[in-house]
Amino acid sequence: MVPWPRRAAPSSLPGPGSPEAWARRATASQTEPGLLRLDVPPEQGESATVNWQDYESEGVQAIAGSATAEELDAARVQYLGRKGDLAQALRGVRDRESGMLLNGVRSRLEAAIAERREAIEREELETLYADRSFDVTLPGEEFRRGRLHLLTQIKREIEDIFLGMGYEVYEGDEVTDTWHNFDALTTDHGHPSRSPSDTFYFSDDVLLRTHTSPDQIRLMESRQPPIYAISPGRVYRRDTPDATHSPTFLQVESLVVDRGITLADLKGAVLHFFRQLFGPEREVRMRTSYFPFTEPSVEFDVTCFLCNSEGCPVCKYSGWIEMGGAGWVDPEVFRNVGYDPEVWAGFAFGLGIERIAMLRHGLPDLRLFWDNDLRVLSQF
Ligand code: DAH
Repeated sequence: MVPWPRRAAPSSLPGPGSPEAWARRATASQTEPGLLRLDVPPEQGESATVNWQDYESEGVQAIAGSATAEELDAARVQYLGRKGDLAQALRGVRDRESGMLLNGVRSRLEAAIAERREAIEREELETLYADRSFDVTLPGEEFRRGRLHLLTQIKREIEDIFLGMGYEVYEGDEVTDTWHNFDALTTDHGHPSRSPSDTFYFSDDVLLRTHTSPDQIRLMESRQPPIYAISPGRVYRRDTPDATHSPTFLQVESLVVDRGITLADLKGAVLHFFRQLFGPEREVRMRTSYFPFTEPSVEFDVTCFLCNSEGCPVCKYSGWIEMGGAGWVDPEVFRNVGYDPEVWAGFAFGLGIERIAMLRHGLPDLRLFWDNDLRVLSQF
């Protein structure tokens, strides 16, 4: 690129001086069209006069002739840079005409640079695409998307159904004590579930909860009725893993305490829940059972959603699938948390989340959930 030589001030023109002198010069330049001259203020003791029309057209030429971003930048520094003639002259401007003249030159040069920069970028892309070693049809890098674990999906689905019924979702502690896990739930000392061969103990009275039922106690201890809540979460039992046993699994507990609650309310809640989960045709039945903390206690079944009760391997040709335990809250449990059983009544139920997932997707083995085999888990 040809450097732009500074011109020495012709002796006929006055050198730089007062603002009035600058204003005079600007006026003079306008009376001579095609020869727009303005002095550059002295720098390092030297004064120069620049023909701004030539300056501009040479600048425009240098810009247009820049083949690369680097060359363009060099042209920008030369014609618009802080140390360039234009910037120097602008710094000394005191009158409107000179300002307008110089700013005009500046904005036209800036526009030329922006235009050329865009063209250079476009040209660079075009050469890149034209290069045969660049194959746009090659597959890109695979972006692996994660997903929620099937059990998390089902847990959230259950939460949504109960939230829709106005229940709250409560989260209890996995590490609890014998009071919450057994005593308050009136589980007597001889009950097999209290044995260290069935339950993980940290000490004599601190343990990993064996079911979500202690959350009933924590809920009731923390507030006064009415209570409409579910509590989903992880539970632990000393079981050797096989197709249907695991030392840890998920349950969801439900507790309702209010005035005048009966088993009909329990049945209605469970029926609505299963119809949401397994389809509007589902029916529910209750069979008598025993749990220490409910009286009476029941187990509930739902009609088989796979064969519509006609009989299949999943329902063992009975048309019904066992889903969980439930009952009317034992008055003794209310007394343990300081509720008056003459005033309050309630129901509770509990069910396994893995069981719902296995039934729904025909999964034969509980261990599939924990093996972390993406070929299995990424199907859901
Ligand atoms: N906690 C029981 C279990 O793990 C399930 C259960 C039965 C929960 C009856 C309840 C209930 O709330 O009322 O086997």
